[in-house]
Amino acid sequence: MINYNIEDIRSQFPILERKIDGKPLIYLDNTATSETPRCVVDAIVSGYCDTKANVHRGVHTLSQEATELQEECRRRVRDYIGASSEEEVIFTRGTTEGINLVASSFGSLFPKDGEIILTVMEHHANIVPWQLIAQETGAVLKVAPVDKSGQIILSEYEKLFTRRTKFVSATHVSNTLGTVTPVAELIAIAHRHGVRIMIDGAQSVAHIPVNVSALDADFFVFSGHKIFAPTGIGALYGKKEVLEAARPYHGGGNMIADVTFERTIYNPAPNKFEAGTASIADAVGLGAALEYLTAVGMDAINRHEHELLQYATKELSKISGLHMIGTAANKASALSFILDGVPDEKVGEYLNQYGIAVRTGHHCAQPILRSFGLESVVRPTLAFYNSTEDIDALVKALKSLAH
Ligand code: ALA
Repeated sequence: MINYNIEDIRSQFPILERKIDGKPLIYLDNTATSETPRCVVDAIVSGYCDTKANVHRGVHTLSQEATELQEECRRRVRDYIGASSEEEVIFTRGTTEGINLVASSFGSLFPKDGEIILTVMEHHANIVPWQLIAQETGAVLKVAPVDKSGQIILSEYEKLFTRRTKFVSATHVSNTLGTVTPVAELIAIAHRHGVRIMIDGAQSVAHIPVNVSALDADFFVFSGHKIFAPTGIGALYGKKEVLEAARPYHGGGNMIADVTFERTIYNPAPNKFEAGTASIADAVGLGAALEYLTAVGMDAINRHEHELLQYATKELSKISGLHMIGTAANKASALSFILDGVPDEKVGEYLNQYGIAVRTGHHCAQPILRSFGLESVVRPTLAFYNSTEDIDALVKALKSLAH
């Protein structure tokens, strides 16, 4: 293991001191939501106790301070994902809203015979919004398949492009299999065909350093709560020119430059897509989370998690009757499996008796599980505060169940 101060990191997360029925909590449900460090809680409390006011609306001190805090957070998001300008960063309620925003604001402009390419690994949040747009516009959805390990078959992906292809939306990391997709290639292929592409970073930003400018992504979306920040806040990155071309998502205050009953002139992005009062303190919490992660270092986090994932994969694979689901060479966080003879839900309940939190079920990604002939898996998922001791406890509990 690298020199990585796991004890110090763990001490920043109050919930990791919790007991579940007298047993220390072993939190391995990070893909569903991640836990929150004290610095994020403090930032939210300060947002409410010290600077609560509405943003962009007042000349008084509190409003100015709240605006500056929110815009500082936007700049932090910009820096964290490598965007070239904060004007390309839109606050949303999370990944789901970000994808719906793009589908509605950009996808609704597609022609009747347009085609949209997804991958079979997508979360339902990156399927259903496109189905809704397809129903509205007459567009057709096409789906890139994966190989037995759960990795996208690039040659099959490329075959889906035709002159009618209008958009690609693909995940960076599968929430169910943990596959890290070859995003640079997905983007390069889309652009070779003159097609815009959105990357769903919900499951990558907390685990892998991301640079949207280097990747040349047209859109990139993620959620705060998967990256140690509050629920109900997220961000959407969009290149300036695509944001200019897209229609507003919601109408209301903040997104307008001038309104008469005859017409409205919109503000430029990001305000054009931020109607109404945002979740200001949660945006400040997101900024604090990104600041904390940057201080720990995303490269160090990535290395720690990679070593932990390899260790866990090796140890889990030794358990008789346990089958790993998702075995791509490049993976992050997820260690999904099934256990012969024990329903997934029972495995989850059994682990809970040991204070071990994992998710079981379809993980909002039924198409990919069904392509493996499954309806459900058990899914332990890692974050940077997990330790080898967490994995040892998981393996020990599973061994006692498997026998
Ligand atoms: N998207 C979340 C998960 O994968 C809820 O569990």
